[in-house]
Amino acid sequence: MSRYHPILVTLHWLLAVLIIGGLFMGSNLLAQTPNSDPFKLIALKMHMSIGIVILVLMAIRLAVRLVTQRPAHADIGNNLINRAAIWGHWGFYAGVFAMCVSGLAIANIAGLPAIVFGGSGAPLPVNFDNIAPRAAHGIIAKVLILLVVGHVFAALYHQYIRKDRLFARMWFGNRNGGDDA
Ligand code: HEM
Ligand code: HEM
Repeated sequence: MSRYHPILVTLHWLLAVLIIGGLFMGSNLLAQTPNSDPFKLIALKMHMSIGIVILVLMAIRLAVRLVTQRPAHADIGNNLINRAAIWGHWGFYAGVFAMCVSGLAIANIAGLPAIVFGGSGAPLPVNFDNIAPRAAHGIIAKVLILLVVGHVFAALYHQYIRKDRLFARMWFGNRNGGDDA
């Protein structure tokens, strides 16, 4: 098997855009907008909706990942780094789910579903600082950003320095050539 399943390929790139977008907008727009700003409600609506879409797509991706054939793990000749790559990939699933669960926890504790989607008209809390999962959400975001940066450098290293055509594995095409998993 030389490539990932096309559903995984599609979800990989779609989720990459959504997650990187969520990390960027979350840190630079959402967290910087005070809860007293009327725009905050729109920002929260977008952030929470996209977060839930990410949760659903990531769950589908995990299910498809578990039942489809995939390429053998890339081998760069260093056991430690090979293992780090495997853990890093699982770390993405854990990190993204943890982001979504902690986000949903903040939202529920702060009563956001009714305020943001239910149009209850109730004011937002002054801030989310006293809500414990808010701190977790912020810390996991930083870990996920580091994971994405490491992942991108690793992908570029494979593609341009090792020249092992790793990108082709995460793209569409004939899946039955090359090394078998
Ligand atoms: C938040 C964004 C991203 C996440 C969560 C993510 C997650 C993953 C995961 C979990 C895998 C392993 C395959 C699987 O189990 O499904 C993978 C593979 C891969 N990713 Fe990403 N990725 C992201 C962004 C990117 C970006 C921006 C690039 C390109 C620069 C990239 C390039 C690749 C490549 C080339 C593979 C194939 C690796 C292999 O064949 O072993 N990813 N990604
Ligand atoms: C993978 C999905 C998600 C990503 C990448 C993400 C990303 C972020 C980031 C980067 C921040 C700012 C953290 C900081 O700078 O300390 C943030 C804040 C927040 N997120 Fe998420 N988030 C996700 C899912 C969710 C979900 C599903 C919800 C709720 C349904 C949610 C609700 C919130 C709330 C309420 C805040 C606090 C905003 C503030 O302090 O003003 N997030 N998110």
